[in-house]
Amino acid sequence: MSSPLIDIKEIGRKYVIGAETIHALKSVTLQINKGEFVALMGPSGSGKSTLMNILGCLDTPTRGEYVLNGIKVSDMTDDELAEVRNKEIGFVFQTFNLLPRSTSLDNVALPLIYAGLSKTERIEKAQKALESVNLGNRVDHKPNELSGGQRQRVAIARALINDPSIILADEPTGNLDTKTSVEIMGLLEEIHSKGNTIVLVTHEEDIAQHAHRIVRMRDGLIEDDYPNPEIKNVSPRLAALKEKGSDFEGI
Ligand SMILES: Nc1ncnc2c1ncn2[C@@H]1O[C@H](COP(=O)(O)OP(=O)(O)OP(=O)(O)O)[C@@H](O)[C@H]1O
Ligand SMILES: [Mg+2]
Repeated sequence: MSSPLIDIKEIGRKYVIGAETIHALKSVTLQINKGEFVALMGPSGSGKSTLMNILGCLDTPTRGEYVLNGIKVSDMTDDELAEVRNKEIGFVFQTFNLLPRSTSLDNVALPLIYAGLSKTERIEKAQKALESVNLGNRVDHKPNELSGGQRQRVAIARALINDPSIILADEPTGNLDTKTSVEIMGLLEEIHSKGNTIVLVTHEEDIAQHAHRIVRMRDGLIEDDYPNPEIKNVSPRLAALKEKGSDFEGI
């Protein structure tokens, strides 16, 4: 069998503030294979975002080992890390993190600048990415001219633009109403069905039910890790394909 996409062993992350030491992650061991859809749950302060930041190479553990795609992250140079962050990892945040003065198209095209594509190629690719999240008619809008769900779809298009190995979404529906959250989850289902790997942090059981595996954290440790017995699908496109009995490749 091929090695897992994400392989972390006894990862710890502590913060020292004055005389106090906070063990945000005590010892976390986790493997995630290519194509998995994982929901990471747990109470506030249990270490979910800390773990996501480490998985996304935005932060370094204070102990333990992280092997991403067969490469030990601690052995990477700063340049290699920057490249991994840009090309291998797509981030989606609760607060969207879009550039406020830039259009949807420019926001989505931004990671392609660092990837070294020409302007024409960038525009063409970003346009396609926006169409794939159903925003082909909002390319020239700025974030404040979009609804919350549309902003999050722009952020998802941006996360997908470099065809990353893994998509890390930290409470992507945290700022959205229920109906819009369901829409975004439908989109993530479609992205997953195309073979993408997704790790999603959420507080809501309803949202976690869309994932295929559930990992629960508490006090910097993994408390539970099991396949979701009742996977919920909401994407109408996937439902239609399932009905026809076709697989999801090439949607
Ligand atoms: N930069 C930091 N400096 C000091 N302590 C930190 C820092 N970041 C996080 N912590 C602490 O580490 C612990 C874990 O934080 P983390 O943000 O990972 O929790 P979380 O599970 O994402 O919570 P939430 O659900 O509220 O987002 C918390 O006790 C937090 O106060
Ligand atoms: Mg958090």
